[in-house]
Amino acid sequence: MYQIIDGKKISQEIKDELKEKVSALAAAGGRICLAVIQVGSDPASSVYVGNKKKACAYIGIESQAYELPQETTQEELLALVRRLNEDDQVNGILVQLPLPAQIDEEQVIQTIAPEKDVDGFHEKNVGALCVGSRGYVSCTPLGIIQLLKRSGIEIAGKRCVVLGRSNIVGKPMALLLLRENGTVTVCHSHTVDVKEITRQADILVVAIGKPKLVDETYVKEGAVVIDVGIHRDENNKLCGDVDFERVAPHTSAITPVPGGVGPMTIAMLMHNCVSSAE
Ligand code: GUN
Repeated sequence: MYQIIDGKKISQEIKDELKEKVSALAAAGGRICLAVIQVGSDPASSVYVGNKKKACAYIGIESQAYELPQETTQEELLALVRRLNEDDQVNGILVQLPLPAQIDEEQVIQTIAPEKDVDGFHEKNVGALCVGSRGYVSCTPLGIIQLLKRSGIEIAGKRCVVLGRSNIVGKPMALLLLRENGTVTVCHSHTVDVKEITRQADILVVAIGKPKLVDETYVKEGAVVIDVGIHRDENNKLCGDVDFERVAPHTSAITPVPGGVGPMTIAMLMHNCVSSAE
């Protein structure tokens, strides 16, 4: 029998721990404020931004919402980011991705002051993760480490395989698993014989953005499988990058979609916001 890793429950535990921290901070006169910038009205982004604001309200973090029109220019967005960098009332700045085509995402990210970059995307924070010094870490991979630890899954010494090498998930995931003393392999679109590698994984993290691509032929019997994907299947039902029904019986533990990794991303964003004030 396999364990279903309950991201909803674990994220709630984390939010409740943070809520206590924030109320202690408030009692001492401290406050935390997150500025959330959305450009345009992509429906998925609106849902994510709404959930982030809700989580802030729950925990006791103030949030400022900046909803900019789709046709916002690079300069307008950079000017807002620079203004928020200078604003002592703002601890954290989050620019929801993706941004419209006329905007250079990388330049926007690198303009956010590293000490306010609660997404952990600035190269200074990525560099800090790489060399093992203090800095913000990308929320989704940070949440996955918490899911594993709080489910009693040992990482040290384990063979960990990460499918996907994005800056937001795959690369920081590999670095975090390495920091936890896992033996880490990253597979990507140019990897030859992916299944031969994934079938060696004790812990398999899938972040490739393709619905139900990973079936049981990718997975070693008794592995732990973490699914980062979120899609709608042919019946408009939410699904991940992993074909849950086929894979789950072969695992010792697996995250569901929804209710696995997703809620953890927001919990860890809140964690990063609280650190920004500590
Ligand atoms: N778009 C999808 N995931 C994320 C995230 O973690 N942070 C931001 N800013 N945008 C996203």
